[in-house]
Amino acid sequence: MNLKQMAGIEAAKYVEDGMIVGLGTGSTAKFMVDEVGRRIKEEGLSITGVTTSKETERQAQSLGIPLKSIDDVPYVDLTIDGADEISADFQGTKGGGAALLFEKIVATYSKKCIWIVDESKMVEKLGKFPLPVEVVPYGSQQLLHLFEKKGYSPVLRTAADDSTVITDGGHYIIDLHLQKIEDPIALGTYLDQLVGVVEHGLFLDVVTTVIVGGENGPKTIEVSR
Ligand code: A5P
Repeated sequence: MNLKQMAGIEAAKYVEDGMIVGLGTGSTAKFMVDEVGRRIKEEGLSITGVTTSKETERQAQSLGIPLKSIDDVPYVDLTIDGADEISADFQGTKGGGAALLFEKIVATYSKKCIWIVDESKMVEKLGKFPLPVEVVPYGSQQLLHLFEKKGYSPVLRTAADDSTVITDGGHYIIDLHLQKIEDPIALGTYLDQLVGVVEHGLFLDVVTTVIVGGENGPKTIEVSR
């Protein structure tokens, strides 16, 4: 079995009747959403889903998963989502699929967060995978210059047809090619205070459980916070 699928199916076991469930975005989360859809259909599982992107919304609707907006639920019991990298101290980066803003909003109001990854995503330090920063289009060139001066090797994200990627929130993505993030908290704090930055892909002190798909089966790690 594909390692991402293995992690996705394992995580769907944590979904219980009556839960409000945050449904993540990306190729790993897709397997989890499929499995939740299967459980609803075949096991009569009853949940309310809160999606983190238009892409996941379309998938969930096609599977008949009942959905509500984050603004129409009191909280989210459990969010299951993918990640781009997870460090040895369980900090993470997300947003490779450009859904980081909605993913972070849903994670923020979730009692528990499970990240599902294949073993290649487990790293010592974050930074090899480019760090996405979601920015308002107006002034984005200025932010690119600023990041260039800081030595962050920024790249405005474009699609296969060379058009600028527009997020579900109507923003641009600037990917920072940092190679190694020595101090994720300091970098997150710096990015948070920049005018025009809507959100960044550093998800710090968020995850409560990590499920890693590996050659010997899924490995579940409980993270104490
Ligand atoms: C979406 O914006 C991301 O945060 C994804 O959850 C993350 O990039 C992991 O994606 P894959 O599961 O496709 O690797």
